[in-house]
Amino acid sequence: MFDTETEENAVHGAPGGESPLHVPVLVDSVVELLRSLTPGLLSSWIVDGTVGLGGHAERVLDALPTARLLGTDRDPAALEHARRRLARFGDRARLVRARHSELARIVREDLGERPAAFLFDLGVSSMQLDEAERGFSFQSDGPLDMRMDPGLDRTAAEIVNSWDERDLADLFYYEGGETRSRAAARAIVESRRRAPFLRTGALADCIARAFGGHTGKIHPATLVFQALRRAVNQEGEELAAALATAERELADGGRLLVITFHSGEDAVVKRHLAALARAGRFELLTKKPIEADQAERRANPRSRSAKLRAAVRTRAGDQGDAPIETPLSREGRP
Ligand SMILES: C[S@@+](CC[C@H](N)C(=O)[O-])C[C@H]1O[C@@H](n2cnc3c(N)ncnc32)[C@H](O)[C@@H]1O
Repeated sequence: MFDTETEENAVHGAPGGESPLHVPVLVDSVVELLRSLTPGLLSSWIVDGTVGLGGHAERVLDALPTARLLGTDRDPAALEHARRRLARFGDRARLVRARHSELARIVREDLGERPAAFLFDLGVSSMQLDEAERGFSFQSDGPLDMRMDPGLDRTAAEIVNSWDERDLADLFYYEGGETRSRAAARAIVESRRRAPFLRTGALADCIARAFGGHTGKIHPATLVFQALRRAVNQEGEELAAALATAERELADGGRLLVITFHSGEDAVVKRHLAALARAGRFELLTKKPIEADQAERRANPRSRSAKLRAAVRTRAGDQGDAPIETPLSREGRP
């Protein structure tokens, strides 16, 4: 089941002070895991599949002076930030707009060699959450959108206004871990008979009312919003594609690093890496996930729910090897 501490409270950056855009999560551990690549791989490509605002990418390029980095992201606005931030690295940083499900093709066409590492820092960026107009947050009112890639057809409003009650309840339960999913779905269906949902604020208020008001520390709509975001952006399928691409495309001795922000997603990564290790294709570098220490948690409360898992590829999967299936989060749930 998902933790109640979700990405809404666990985004990437420090509250107040310097711009939150400058503080990537668990970055020292990411750099250490990459620094111990074999010398041959240290001058090869590192693929940052969630380059976002370029925080991890910048630290990696500074720390590993011979490495080159291919940064991809589905969000063109994030890529623009990354482009400015990484401009000083010249040819060592290459940026491409792509989803995880397009990454295998980009890697094959653009790099011409197997990469030394894949890094995935999953979820939304602080910039996506902070801009009310993107419609991810119940904290500030905005259009009910939630698309990381504005080219996607389906917004959160379309799901909320058109799915039937049972499908909405299933979505909130399986993708958000919301145990009051039926009450939420019922309240939405009743309310939308009067007027469709167009704004995040109206949806957040409706869920809060259905759950008897806003009492605890966490906003009552947190898990419903998480579920909608996951559906709009097909995050389960995209994670499966990310893991499959890393498995297939990494160089021998190359490393896969994944940072997750809620327990459902961490469980998917954990099971996938364990299956790769059992098949003899990867060795785990983290038996237990790496988490932020007290200092990082204090400096950046948003790092509290981050978990970093890593594995090294020990043997190339040959043509006869069946890919390891990544269960989508719905499977194996109660
Ligand atoms: C947590 S942020 C990354 C922050 C980045 N590591 C940094 O230090 O600035 C996650 C990023 O991944 C991107 N993203 C999420 N799912 C994606 C997918 N399926 N394909 C490509 N990018 C994705 C989001 O648009 C967002 O910019």
